[in-house]
Amino acid sequence: MTKIITISDLEKIIAQHGMQAFYLDLLTFLKEDFSRWKSFHKIPRVAAHVPNGIIELMPIWDDRYFSYKYVNGHPNNTASGHLTVVAFGAFVDIKTGYPLLLSEMTLLTGIRTAATSALASHYLARKEAETFGIIGTGAQSEFQVLAHQAVRKIKTVKYFDIDPHAMKRFKKTMEKTGLDLVACSSAEETVKGCDIITVATAAAGHHEILQDAWVKPGMHINDIGGDSPGKTELSLDTVKRAKVFIEFLPQTQFEGEIQRLTPEERSQYIHGELWELVTNEKNGRTSHEEITLFDSVGFALEDYSILRLVLNLSKRYQIGTNLPLIPELTDPKNLISLLGGHHTG
Ligand SMILES: NC(=O)c1ccc[n+]([C@@H]2O[C@H](COP(=O)([O-])OP(=O)(O)OC[C@H]3O[C@@H](n4cnc5c(N)ncnc54)[C@H](O)[C@@H]3O)[C@@H](O)[C@H]2O)c1
Repeated sequence: MTKIITISDLEKIIAQHGMQAFYLDLLTFLKEDFSRWKSFHKIPRVAAHVPNGIIELMPIWDDRYFSYKYVNGHPNNTASGHLTVVAFGAFVDIKTGYPLLLSEMTLLTGIRTAATSALASHYLARKEAETFGIIGTGAQSEFQVLAHQAVRKIKTVKYFDIDPHAMKRFKKTMEKTGLDLVACSSAEETVKGCDIITVATAAAGHHEILQDAWVKPGMHINDIGGDSPGKTELSLDTVKRAKVFIEFLPQTQFEGEIQRLTPEERSQYIHGELWELVTNEKNGRTSHEEITLFDSVGFALEDYSILRLVLNLSKRYQIGTNLPLIPELTDPKNLISLLGGHHTG
């Protein structure tokens, strides 16, 4: 039997476990898995560039489990009432190749992306960071704030979107958190005084959502919207000025903010990969003034970690439905018996 986790199952799991506890456990799972970086078989995701966006498959495996996620990115989708990013995925037992879990991953992508940003902020943002800025208050935005509450004592959240409706929704959802919410009328106003900034816009093309002149010493930037070829959000000057961490060079070199660097510049400006912060092989922030950047495109290991957590919690709380997706046969060679004798019609 394969465990199926739907959106309402996930809602039940989070209601039972608590959102902050879920984030804290996910941060632990991410740290565990990133610290085992070398035991994973890693490949850049497979991307189909389609007329309105991108469709990707993201596999990864170690000696126990294989996981993959199907995910898209369609920047114009919201105009027709569709999400920009939707996803589902599987967690598979390596020994038999049988899927243990099939799960919704649209929500899980929002949660794991935010937790990974928060993990980077944990190593890169100033310890006393308390003002968080978000540019682009779309589907990913609230998750980013909630995840950061697990790693820093956030007091103030400044936010901006070119879509007033998205700003209203963000305010309404986040009011319940008790955080000091500051609606801004521009990206520049948002950035002013922020310790940590997440940039999460979705437009294709090379944009300077965050202009270099606004980036002040001591800031930490999580860039999540520059995540596919031809799609960036920062000034190249900022990339060159910051201490840059990425997830996985073979993938990020084509997808991240660093896609505009030459191979020589990459070795000059990229400080390391996230796993090297987790294992202490590289230093994170070493001074108050440093500008740090996590150039995130989303990597398969983050999906592996959250699927591992969901499988674990679904067993603990007995949530989800076991469905016969895989045949159970007394004679494994007698596959045709599943047709119940209707094979001659
Ligand atoms: N790195 C990762 O792991 C990861 C994971 C998920 C999504 N993403 C990326 O994050 C981005 C946001 O995803 P989403 O699901 O929130 O998309 P979304 O479409 O729901 O939200 C994007 C928001 O950005 C706003 N926006 C666009 N241009 C802007 C500008 N110039 N200034 C301010 N706001 C602007 C839009 O109005 C919209 O509200 C996408 O590019 C997506 O591909 C990355």
